Parts: sequence; C-alpha cells; structure tokens
Amino acid sequence: MSKNEFGTSGADLELRGVSKRFPGFTAIEELDLTIPAGSFFALLGPSGCGKTTTLRIVAGLEEPTTGRVLIGGKDVTDAKPFQRPVNTVFQSYALFPHMTVIENIAFGLRRRRIEDPLGKAREALRLVELENVAQRRPAQLSGGQQQRVALARAIVNRPALLLLDEPLGALDLKLRRQMQLELKEIQAQVGLTFLHVTHDQEEAMTMADTVAVMNKGRIEQMGAPEELYERPRTAFVANFLGQSNLFGGKVVSSSDESIVVDVHGYRVEVPRARSQRHSGEVAVGVRPEKIELHANEPVPASGINIVGPGRVTDVSFSGVSTSYQVSLPGLGVVTVFAQNRSFGPVVHEGEQVWLSWHVEHGFGLEDEPEQLPKFAADDDTQSIAAQRRRQLQTELEGA
Ligand SMILES: Nc1ncnc2c1ncn2[C@@H]1O[C@H](COP(=O)(O)OP(=O)(O)O)[C@@H](O)[C@H]1O
Ligand SMILES: [Mg+2]
Repeated sequence: MSKNEFGTSGADLELRGVSKRFPGFTAIEELDLTIPAGSFFALLGPSGCGKTTTLRIVAGLEEPTTGRVLIGGKDVTDAKPFQRPVNTVFQSYALFPHMTVIENIAFGLRRRRIEDPLGKAREALRLVELENVAQRRPAQLSGGQQQRVALARAIVNRPALLLLDEPLGALDLKLRRQMQLELKEIQAQVGLTFLHVTHDQEEAMTMADTVAVMNKGRIEQMGAPEELYERPRTAFVANFLGQSNLFGGKVVSSSDESIVVDVHGYRVEVPRARSQRHSGEVAVGVRPEKIELHANEPVPASGINIVGPGRVTDVSFSGVSTSYQVSLPGLGVVTVFAQNRSFGPVVHEGEQVWLSWHVEHGFGLEDEPEQLPKFAADDDTQSIAAQRRRQLQTELEGA
C-alpha cells in the first residue's frame, strides 16, 4: 500500500458474501466486492437499491445478516464504528453552527488529543482551497463551501477509507459539476480510497476509476466507466448508464467474428466479443449517438448494419445535439442523437429515413429478450423516452 501525504495508507476494502435482510425485505443480496487501495470507486444505482445500506455496513452502523467486511486485509465485521479506519460524508453535512470553520475541522483532532490540531486543520483547509474562510461560521458559507468543509473535516481524521453518501446531492447542477472535478482532484492528491455512492450516472462516470452498477441489492456490472458504457451486459446497465436502443431477435448465423441476428426481418450483426450470448433468442443494442440517419437507402456494405425505411416521428433540439425518434415497422421506435454541426435538423418530422451503424458499435446482452421492457411494434413503449419516464417513475416511487 502506498503512503499518502498524511502518512496513512488508503485501504483495500473487501466485502465477502455480504447480505442484509430487514424484516420482510432483502436490501442486499450476497455482495462480493473488492476496492483496491487508493482508488475512486463509485456505487451507482437508483434510489432504494441498497447503496446507503452497503455504506452503513462498511462504516459499522449496520450489521450484515451474512458475510464479512475487511479493511486493509483486516476483518472488521465485529468492530465498532469508531474502531474502523473509516469516515463518512453524508448529503446533509451537519457542521457545528456556533464554531468557526477551522474549529469545526479541528474538533475531532482535539477530542482525540492529536498533536497540533490547528496546523493539521489548516492543512486540510488548504486542500479544499478554503483557507480564506477559516474564521467564518458555516452560515456565512455557500452550500458548496460547506460541503468542502465537511470533506476537510473527514479528511483531517486520516481515514484509510472515505465513504461519501450522495455528498453533492444538495448542490445545484453547476456547482455539483464543479465539485465533482474538485473532489476527484483532492482524492488524487491525498491518495485515500474513496467509496462514493450516487444515483447520478454522469457523476459516477466523471469521478470514478471503477463503477459498480447496483440494482435491487445486487451488482449488475462493474468496470471502468468506458467499459460499462461501451459494453453493457444487461438491459438495466444499458439504460441506467446513458441510453440504448434494444432489440430482441434470433441468431441466424455466426462466425468467429460475429453473430447475425434476425430482428423482425432486419439483419443485425454484432461482434461475438461484444455479445454475451451467441445462439438462440438474444437481445442486442446500439447507442443513439452511434446511429447515422440517411434520407436515401444506403448501399449495403460489410461491417455496416442498415435498417429502414422508417419515419421520423419526433425531432427534439437540445443545443449540442438533436434527438430523433424514428418509427420502424416491426422494430418499434429507435432514438438517434446527431451532433448539431450545422444549423437546423438533418431530417424533419414525417420524413422517411434509413438508419445505419457500424457493426463494431453494437452489443449483445446476457438478458433473455423476454426480460427486455415489453416489446410492442409500432408503439412507443420501447422508445428511450418511454423507458426513461418509467425509470424516473420507479425512482420517484422508491425515493
Ligand atoms: N432499517 C430498515 N428497515 C427496513 N428496510 C430498510 C431499512 N433501511 C433501509 N431499508 C430498505 O432497504 C432498501 C435499500 O435502502 P437504501 O440502502 O437506503 O437504498 P439507497 O441508498 O440505494 O437509496 C430500501 O428499500 C429501504 O426501504
Ligand atoms: Mg441512500
């Protein structure tokens, strides 16, 4: 383990077969997880999927029903919270209102009779670039500044492992984006292990080296952000991390390089290495920004999937890009994102179009096609917008 500038080591966190059952409800199922020392790890999932429960088990605030928790190779499952080399920053960062910023940070050090509490507090304050407000009280700071003080207060305790439970949730969007970058920079500087919990996919992808996507108490997929985005293994990951067009079909031929899937009469080729299943009924997908729109039928070419003709049912401008909904007989509604490199839309509502994408951009899921959101030709239940609405609804109900 490497030493950081405070002279402590980031911890390797390991969860072995951890589960948590509340009366009548299983919040976490058989969780196995290893977080390397010094990494920035994000646990990403919708509200209610078990993120906070997982953090509370690591912190020792909740007892797992089964399984062991190891920090730095040491089994801490039976250790009290204060005996664990862990600090937590929550969304609501309760600072002491009557104390100055510097005293808030030094508080824990004083209580533990650590030498030079003010010097160490000043050092932590320097890290979060708030030396200039050391003598203010929390009420005299902005939300973002208060959040950084809470972070300094956690870091100054030199935890081996820092747990962050949606710490930026209370900030407005712009400040949140800024804090994401700052938090990542601080993590790189102090070299502690960060376990960050969020339901914001963009936040997880921006900040973390490794993201674990959690759904209903299980980890669906874990990996580098690019890996998860480019090669989602389940429909849940494909649509929780960004958006995807998903199709169900039957494998009609396969080679060492690829499989060919018959999707309602369309021939869709997917690289074998990017597909979890290679025979029978499969679910395949492609990201909206990987698809190209054509006003005329493209000439077939190897390495390219072509579907169409379909009709543009919606064009929605969002500044950087325009989102097109294209309805294809049998396939349903496909979403296409096109960058706004020129003025005005590429095609208009009601127009006939063909779609194409490079074979290498497709992916095949491990889900059975029946597990996909209910497929119905020529209606909107399959569209990304509809999936998004359903997901939001579920999140709201779970919140
Ligand atoms: N003390 C508890 N008793 C019963 N159910 C709980 C308790 N704590 C959490 N839960 C349930 O466990 C699930 C996961 O909760 P939580 O870990 O807070 O989710 P998240 O942080 O991902 O939103 C939720 O359905 C929640 O209602
Ligand atoms: Mg939570």
